[in-house]
Amino acid sequence: MVKFSPAFIDALLERSDLVRLVEGRVPLKKKGKDFWACCPFHQEKSPSFSVSPEKQIYYCFGCHAHGNAIGFLMAHDRISFPEAVTLLAEDAGMALPTELAGQTPQEDFRPFRQILEKAVKLYRGALSENSVAQQYWQSRGLHPDTIDRFELGYAPPAASFLSQQLGRDDNTRKALIGAGLVSSREDHSVYDRFRERVIFPIRDGRGQLVGLGGRSLDGREPKYLNSPEGPLYHKGQVLYGLHQAREGLRRAGRALLVEGYLDVITLHQAGLDYAVAVSGTALGESQLQMLFRAAPEVLLCFDGDGAGRKAAWRAVQIAPELLREGRLLRVLFLPDGQDPDSLVRGQGGAALEALLPTARPAIDYYLDELQRRYNIAAEDEKAQFLREARAFLQRVNDTTLREVYLHKLQDLCGMAHAIPVKRRGRESALAPARGVRARGKEGPSLFKNALRLLLNHPEDPAWQELEKTLLPFAADPMAKNLDATLDILANMTHLGSHELLARLAGSDLAEICYALVMDADADAESQEGTLMRNEISGCVQRVNQRLIKARIDYMASTADRSGLGALTEQERAEMVQLTRRGRHKPSES
Ligand code: UTP
Ligand code: MN
Repeated sequence: MVKFSPAFIDALLERSDLVRLVEGRVPLKKKGKDFWACCPFHQEKSPSFSVSPEKQIYYCFGCHAHGNAIGFLMAHDRISFPEAVTLLAEDAGMALPTELAGQTPQEDFRPFRQILEKAVKLYRGALSENSVAQQYWQSRGLHPDTIDRFELGYAPPAASFLSQQLGRDDNTRKALIGAGLVSSREDHSVYDRFRERVIFPIRDGRGQLVGLGGRSLDGREPKYLNSPEGPLYHKGQVLYGLHQAREGLRRAGRALLVEGYLDVITLHQAGLDYAVAVSGTALGESQLQMLFRAAPEVLLCFDGDGAGRKAAWRAVQIAPELLREGRLLRVLFLPDGQDPDSLVRGQGGAALEALLPTARPAIDYYLDELQRRYNIAAEDEKAQFLREARAFLQRVNDTTLREVYLHKLQDLCGMAHAIPVKRRGRESALAPARGVRARGKEGPSLFKNALRLLLNHPEDPAWQELEKTLLPFAADPMAKNLDATLDILANMTHLGSHELLARLAGSDLAEICYALVMDADADAESQEGTLMRNEISGCVQRVNQRLIKARIDYMASTADRSGLGALTEQERAEMVQLTRRGRHKPSES
């Protein structure tokens, strides 16, 4: 059987998208962070099969089937491991290791990585011995610990530096060539690719070295020289700084894409440690995909000049399919003549941070730019503009976002909202969503709605505000369910939706809870972020008000029937207190 190296499998999984893979075979619905479906691996009526885009794994709460992209393909398509890997590789546009094409046996990239590591060490050593290079980094404002963190180095002028240091034997020569560190002459001797340049080691998201960038010190062209395309270095797949930015990306929930290596480094040094850059190429689809996998909000930062505008325009072209629910893509232009490095060095990190809110939603930017290209005062050009913009918007993955911009487009063109906007359900886009209406009237659905919100967002702090007992509503099955779920949560802080549902599996509550979580109509219209927080605390308040009212009603009717003396002293005090809260009066009946 063919063997794949762990590195290849890692890279393959990094570039695969489990949600898209599953979606093509099983219709998925998004709930909270995850996607759900009826499990394809066992018979069931309510969906307990979940896919996590964040963790790139699937798990069935019913039959406990689980795995990653490769496992899913094997189990679902009933194919072998190599077949699944081949399929995924084709999908990700990755070349299979050559032995599969029937050529050299099992290519192992480890020697390339190892020799790259050795070269980086040597270049860092060379830096410590060369004052010109040290001065260069200093002149760029870099502190010693920044130089260490980014492992910056210096490649001396000699064309045989690496061979001299690492040896000229056949294996070393092959490794040096494979790693893109040297080129070979006709007589098979080799010469160093990086000479008299400061060196930027490039690591992938896992921290493995894939290549180098080198900047000339004396104005020699090219200004920047990168590793050649090879088994390790694929410029379309590189995000410079991703390794160093991992923590910052997670913390900020935001990625800032800039144009140059030094921009990344200067930003990190200034505390904006969620910056990354492409390397020697325009932003491609798989890089944007990687960015969104790293953070839900992606800011594309460009210089304010013509080249920057051109790059931004190219970047937004590839975006629509990647605009899924919960993702934000923004475009930020710096003042003309500035790049992030010069701006931060001149005015400090805070100056750049202050610009971040000026970033525009990518689609707004797209529509603006497209409008510049047509004279929409002329009806015929307006039609062309509309056609092109609509085709673009139809590619947007997030249906709500698409709807918003289709409306905006009609406004832009001075058209009434007569063009029907495509929607999944029966309702028109302008009618209030069903979930919203149900929430508005606050009938018996209050507890149901509370439970649905709780299941989807158990970590929301507002739940702490909920009154401790729902006993007065014991007759309402939904209130009982809510109470029981709150009990589960009482002993476990920070339980996420995923874990809460896992804990409910198999309990009496599971069926109703899963049904609620899967209630697409209600949740699809739910809000994100702040609005969701408001919705939850609003719901908590309403439940509390009901409780207080029920309590007052109970005490009032007892007092009515048998006089105030029938109430305990404590109850009387409670009644006074509750009534004083002002909002509540005993029901008049
Ligand atoms: P810039 O020319 O904007 O340089 O290239 P910079 O980042 O501002 O560099 P400094 O401040 O002059 O040192 C931006 C990026 O484009 C790629 C490099 O990745 C660079 O960081 N590039 C540029 C190349 O790959 N080759 C080149 O010849 C020039
Ligand atoms: Mn620069």
